[in-house]
Amino acid sequence: MTPHLDFIHQFVPGSSDRTLLLLHGTGGNEHDLLPLGRELDPAAALLSPRGQVLENGHPRFFRRLAEGVFDLEDLKRRTDELADFILAAAQAYHFDLAKLIAVGYSNGANIAASILLRRPGVLHAAVLLRAMVPFEPEELPNLSGVRIWIGGGKQDTIIPRENTERLANILSAAGADVSAHFFEAGHALTSIELVLVKRWL
Ligand code: MLT
Repeated sequence: MTPHLDFIHQFVPGSSDRTLLLLHGTGGNEHDLLPLGRELDPAAALLSPRGQVLENGHPRFFRRLAEGVFDLEDLKRRTDELADFILAAAQAYHFDLAKLIAVGYSNGANIAASILLRRPGVLHAAVLLRAMVPFEPEELPNLSGVRIWIGGGKQDTIIPRENTERLANILSAAGADVSAHFFEAGHALTSIELVLVKRWL
């Protein structure tokens, strides 16, 4: 039986065995990051869900109380829902979770970080673009064997560099292989970092 997929999403088949999980930022949708995914890997399949929370009409992956202040109960629930969607999508579209790489931007990067910390085993690799600590884990998960590439903007006024650095430290302490980079940029992405991500994939 095909599992039920309860996120609005796009799935674009690829010609290799890799799948990119594309997680948009606040106000984005399931179409937004498809061109970025294609640019990063012309051969990968692309899976792109739409966040199920609306903030003044703008889709997000979880609720926040203010900029950078998260509703932690909602974050837990939404993290589990997205993790379960990923597992169901792997069955429905027949892709290998070990070959899945999450690529998240801003709010999408934050929920990817939350899945890494709360549901280890679902993501084996992640690119976190403009990410911050989603919540303080009481216990560190075992993330050995997980590859993570983090890109921050030195002039990002939404996500302070120290916060992204703390996330990198938490993920490293959990055993992940983390590579963190900071660019002369704000919250928007730069072409140089996308070139570096492409090389890292
Ligand atoms: C978040 O809410 O996840 C972060 O503040 C980034 C954003 O989406 O603005």
